[in-house]
Amino acid sequence: MTAAFFSPFRLKNLELTNRFVRSATWEGMCDEKGAPGQKLEDYYRQLVRGGVGLIISGYTFVRADGKQLPGKMGIDHDALLPALRSLTDAVHDEGGLLLCQLVHAGGQTSSKTIGTTPLAPSAIDFPSYGETPREMTQADIRSLVTAFADGAARAQKAGFDGIQLHGAHGYLIHQFLSPLTNQRQDDYGGDLENRSRFLLEVYAAVREAVGADFPVTIKLTAADNLPEGFTVEDAVKVAQKLDALGIDAIEVSSGSAASGAESPVRQGIDTPADEAYNVPFARRIKEAVAAPVMVVGGLRSLSVMKRLLENSDADLFSLSRPLIREPALIRRWQQNEDHRATCISCNGCFRPGLKEGGIDCVVERIEEKNRTPVI
Ligand SMILES: Cc1cc2nc3c(=O)[nH]c(=O)nc-3n(C[C@H](O)[C@H](O)[C@H](O)COP(=O)(O)O)c2cc1C
Repeated sequence: MTAAFFSPFRLKNLELTNRFVRSATWEGMCDEKGAPGQKLEDYYRQLVRGGVGLIISGYTFVRADGKQLPGKMGIDHDALLPALRSLTDAVHDEGGLLLCQLVHAGGQTSSKTIGTTPLAPSAIDFPSYGETPREMTQADIRSLVTAFADGAARAQKAGFDGIQLHGAHGYLIHQFLSPLTNQRQDDYGGDLENRSRFLLEVYAAVREAVGADFPVTIKLTAADNLPEGFTVEDAVKVAQKLDALGIDAIEVSSGSAASGAESPVRQGIDTPADEAYNVPFARRIKEAVAAPVMVVGGLRSLSVMKRLLENSDADLFSLSRPLIREPALIRRWQQNEDHRATCISCNGCFRPGLKEGGIDCVVERIEEKNRTPVI
């Protein structure tokens, strides 16, 4: 069974060397315009050398009013193309594969960050919003659909191996899907069909821009993890619709910054029983679609993942925090399947991204400080 993890996996026209994916992770290493540089290239080279079969980039803004955290990657104008090309070349040089995760933050940002009132499906206060956003007009919706398509075309031109739409974690696509953040009265709000319309239009425009042969995938929220919110039953229907339209893979996540202990980045993954917290959702979606399903969230040991693969709960296994702590974790698992990821899921890795120009594992530093000198 371990062999199944380390054998090639075909995702459309891409041959992944194994079933492990670096889930999209904002690294905070780009300049103010969103251009990546040497630091991110070196980081991605390290991840490929560490054995991961596919990297999904940090969330990448398709328009400047969709920025959020500092150092986020951008794909909103052509001047970024040389820097993006250099990044994809670095990954390909090492034999790796790289998808670009496209996002617009919608209401989950602030006018301080973007210099204008944030846009969202509805002008409501929501715990994860920086302030009350402006309700998007239908012209705003059309222009954002185009921004996603233009971003996808740029990603293809820059040499990325495919796209991942960010349809989770409380960002714009998720804001449209959720009844908690979408209270529109027009064709884009109300029942699930209407709330899915923006996502389906984005998918269609992106597909049109990149063509049938280019991998287009999604990180889809399976639930808001909040009362009266988007549910897994809704997610299954959306996933089936995307599947019928030709989506190439679905990564299953859940929650947002508003979901408290059930956020996308849960803490306290201390025992195997705490691991793989999105699997009940992934299983439901996997049963309902033909496209490969990736699961993310709290994957820490190969023994747990083996069970998931045996049960056909997912095809691909995505990790974020464990690879910040141990960029060579996949190689390590290949050599020692009993190793448990040493990530303690403390979320301390965000801080250096915010303050020091790039994410890093702070536990390593604490350990370094406390190490007793050996004489
Ligand atoms: C520092 C950091 C940055 C993240 N940035 C993104 C991102 O850009 N896009 C995204 O979809 N998820 C992002 N996430 C969430 C992860 O991809 C993942 O869904 C979550 O951390 C749970 O997986 P894990 O337990 O393997 O860390 C980020 C997580 C961390 C810790």
